[in-house]
Amino acid sequence: MKLRILMLGFLAAMLSSGVNAQEITTPYVDGLVHEGVFSCNGSTCHSRPSPTGTTVRQDEFVIWQDQSSITGAHSRAYKVLLNQKSRTIARNLGIGPAHEAEECLACHADFVPEAQRGERFDITEGVGCEACHGGAENWLTSHYAPGRTHAQNIADGLYPTEDPAARAQLCLSCHLGSDKPNQFITHRIMGAGHPRISFELDLFTSLQEHHDEDADYRERKAYSNGAKVWAVGQAIALENQLKLFADPDLGRNGAFPELVFFDCHACHVTFSNDPDYRPTWRPNPNRQLGPGVPVFNDSNMIMLRAAVKVVAPDMDRELRQAGLRFHRTVSETGGNYAAATENLAAIAAKLSATMSQAEFGRSEMLEIMDNIVNDSLSSTYTEYAAAEQAVIAIGTFLDALETEQMLGSEVVDNIMPALDDAYEAVDDPNRYDFARMRNAIRRVQSQLQQL
Ligand code: HEC
Ligand code: HEC
Ligand code: HEC
Ligand code: HEC
Repeated sequence: MKLRILMLGFLAAMLSSGVNAQEITTPYVDGLVHEGVFSCNGSTCHSRPSPTGTTVRQDEFVIWQDQSSITGAHSRAYKVLLNQKSRTIARNLGIGPAHEAEECLACHADFVPEAQRGERFDITEGVGCEACHGGAENWLTSHYAPGRTHAQNIADGLYPTEDPAARAQLCLSCHLGSDKPNQFITHRIMGAGHPRISFELDLFTSLQEHHDEDADYRERKAYSNGAKVWAVGQAIALENQLKLFADPDLGRNGAFPELVFFDCHACHVTFSNDPDYRPTWRPNPNRQLGPGVPVFNDSNMIMLRAAVKVVAPDMDRELRQAGLRFHRTVSETGGNYAAATENLAAIAAKLSATMSQAEFGRSEMLEIMDNIVNDSLSSTYTEYAAAEQAVIAIGTFLDALETEQMLGSEVVDNIMPALDDAYEAVDDPNRYDFARMRNAIRRVQSQLQQL
């Protein structure tokens, strides 16, 4: 036990320096007793009606549980397994009731083994505090003691959610999938009716936010701005996606690769024998694939490149070539796609460490945003998934620039109408409008050029 705890502390220490996030033990597999939300929500603890705490807000439970808000999504995660949609999905898959199926609980609850469920633990609480903050077995009664440091809590098993790399591993384990038991959504689960999932670390963090990055926060913890959180999130999403794809148990399905890794609309398109029919395929400089080829979902790869060009320009060529080789070997007979996948995953891993160390100041943020905007004018976003990420990224960067007081809110307000238009163009995956997206982004660009 002691050794394992020491190990956790050691890993956490490495994480806070942004290194070796791959070795991370997420709370799902931390081996600790999870005491349950009822151990956190005492009225003098985390369930004050308003944020009156001196160090932390202390209204975290109220925000987590807010039924009227998206911040309450995790408290509803188990309950959705009881709704009609989940019943249909479970019936189509033939897995029994969804709220009892491991295939669903692994992401829709704090699904640790029975032996690790404390007295007050209740699975129906969904994605509870410890699903993210780690089993409280060894820190529940000590973490608020005067003089306690954050590092001591982490050594006791508190998960380092403030570290962008650790946070990315945590959120992506459910919002992309992992190789841990049942934490993976296959195309079959999608085919049974599960919604498509998409994720961006910084945006999703703010959508469930229950903390303030104020002065004492920055004293206690390493602070990262939104652009860094975004960049680390992109690198780790790419790395994890490729590792899952390379995993023989998850990456293949009969004669086919696991389809969930590919761009949904590469296959889900309509066609016709009408003489006037024109295919929707367009050449894309990032892939160099012809028509009629399923396209690997490269949205994270495209985003990462926009950042690499700015904060790690010496890696740009390597990333671009590895990406092209990957696409080619995945779709061509005789290509060694396993080697190309491994190579690209290794580059992504290296880049996540680079992104964790990089500076994201005003000029870097504006340049990365400029790359994303320029990409839209060069037919990079032919597919929906990358377009969606591009629009989210622009929103994330504007928000980070405003938060860091590197852009005035009037400037951001002026860009908003164009960005809103871009959001509308990516609102519905089945009606993705490339031309409209491009026009909207062109308007964003002309606003940015006035800076
Ligand atoms: C790999 C993790 C994972 C697994 C496994 C998983 N889900 Fe989900 N599910 C999610 C995430 C993440 C979302 C939220 C997607 C979003 O909004 O971005 C979600 C959303 C949903 C929704 C929509 C909820 C809403 O508020 O509209 C339903 C219904 C659902 N899941 C049912 C199921 C069922 C039934 C199973 C088992 C067959 C299952 N899920 C397995 C991660 C998972
Ligand atoms: C989906 C994951 C997730 C869940 C569930 C979750 N948190 Fe958090 N929590 C975070 C993240 C991410 C942060 C912000 C990063 C950080 O500073 O650790 C955070 C921050 C906090 C902080 C502020 C820390 C500080 O130093 O200011 C507290 C306190 C906290 N959470 C308590 C709770 C409690 C109590 C619950 C359950 C009612 C809960 N959290 C549920 C992810 C989560
Ligand atoms: C144990 C699995 C799990 C983990 C870990 C997790 N989530 Fe979730 N998350 C879910 C599920 C399942 C849903 C969908 C719940 C629902 O629809 O009510 C969800 C929903 C959300 C939503 C609402 C999305 C929407 O479209 O309504 C946000 C935002 C979110 N998660 C952010 C995060 C962030 C940020 C982290 C990491 C700090 C994280 N999640 C970690 C499982 C998880
Ligand atoms: C390589 C091709 C391919 C890709 C990529 C692909 N699908 Fe599919 N999809 C199929 C096929 C084939 C079927 C089965 C059609 C049938 O049952 O007639 C299917 C069925 C489905 C269905 C059930 C449709 C129905 O009416 O029964 C859904 C939902 C679905 N896919 C969603 C997705 C999502 C979401 C993605 C992206 C994450 C995706 N698919 C990616 C080929 C693909």
